[in-house]
Amino acid sequence: MPDATGAADVAPAADPTAVAFPQDRTCPYRPPAAYDPLRASRPLGRVTLYDGSTAWLVSGHDAARALLSDPRLSTDRTRPGYPATSPRFKALLDRRAALLNVDDPEHHAQRRLLVANFTLKRATALRPAIRRIVDERIDAMLAQGPPAELVNAFALPVPSTVICELLGVPYADHEFFEEQSRRMLRSRDPGEVRDARDRLDAYLGALIDRKLAAPAGGGVLDALVREQLTDGTVDREEAIALATILLVAGHETTANMISLGAYTLLRHPERLAELRADPALLPAAVEELMRMLSIADGLLRLATEDIEVAGTTIRAGEGVVFATSVINRDESAYPAPDTLDWHRSARHHVAFGFGIHQCLGQNLARAELEIALGALFERLPGLRLAVAPDEVRFKPGDTIQGMLELPVTW
Ligand code: HEM
Repeated sequence: MPDATGAADVAPAADPTAVAFPQDRTCPYRPPAAYDPLRASRPLGRVTLYDGSTAWLVSGHDAARALLSDPRLSTDRTRPGYPATSPRFKALLDRRAALLNVDDPEHHAQRRLLVANFTLKRATALRPAIRRIVDERIDAMLAQGPPAELVNAFALPVPSTVICELLGVPYADHEFFEEQSRRMLRSRDPGEVRDARDRLDAYLGALIDRKLAAPAGGGVLDALVREQLTDGTVDREEAIALATILLVAGHETTANMISLGAYTLLRHPERLAELRADPALLPAAVEELMRMLSIADGLLRLATEDIEVAGTTIRAGEGVVFATSVINRDESAYPAPDTLDWHRSARHHVAFGFGIHQCLGQNLARAELEIALGALFERLPGLRLAVAPDEVRFKPGDTIQGMLELPVTW
């Protein structure tokens, strides 16, 4: 039962039927087979997290959209009992990320500061710049000749360059911030995770100070410093926190989606041929790939009040996990959900989340994915894997899904 503070006073008993979450995928574009019981228990199941604690697992599409819009679920990870899916994540529970870990009304105030920079109109205006960046990378690959390692030659530098230009972060520093993001999102050592976060904070703090001293640039961070930091709407700490989430979320996720998207297309030659024959299918293909790949698989929340869902009560103080890979394959929303199909309407997937925290960068990400995948297969018509498909290494289940490397030739 919840106590007066809203926290559960009794830890939920270990549940022998609970599925361990997260688990590594065996195929990078399918949820682990071990999640099958979660499909069977839709819309809600139980999972055991790495530390032995249990949480609710949302697996139904309608329930997911209802719960992701429900203000009784908090994203404030500093609240006691907030679910942690890895030691890395637990290491970060001491402090909230901007936007993502902030509840309304504070969340609304932060989002309002930035939303004008991420509209569909802004993303459309960025398309020529994205195309230029994509073409430069393909030119470099062609100049060096086959083979190439697509993650480092293309999938990572494209979104990294785009977000640097948009924010006003020097791309010359990319090795530093990519490395800190990698440590923060992949290391299993809590000390290393916090060290990476602190280095990134210090770097972005120094960048903000430089912008404050010489307000000249036209990036999103330049405007934030010139306007909201100067007039006191945000303080330096909040400006750093906003810069961190934009920089990390802005390159790492899209990079994974480009590498895993390219791999998935290479593994589905008929769908790729269909796309090549009719490039107008690209926007639909990007939505369908987002749905199928569900690279951010395990969104986390904490119930602050009791919530009734499909005849079950989620108690105040209990953790709630959203397995986007399972939700996005709910057959009641997507007939034949395991089939890649450019002709279905996939746009209501939850791969960008849903509700107030739905991805701020989704318009930008869609533009990047359309241009990057479209140009890659248009300009390298012979693109193929340079190793056997099962030799390609991909990321473990406790982080954003994507390829560790993608050796290709053409
Ligand atoms: C394909 C690439 C991307 C994927 C799959 C993705 C996925 C997501 C998801 C699932 C969430 C919601 C998390 C939750 O509710 O717990 C989210 C939030 C967010 N994303 Fe993305 N994202 C992508 C690209 C981007 C880009 C390019 C940016 C650029 C700045 C970005 C910035 C953000 C921010 C700031 C939030 C927090 C929004 C809030 O809490 O109000 N993302 N993203």
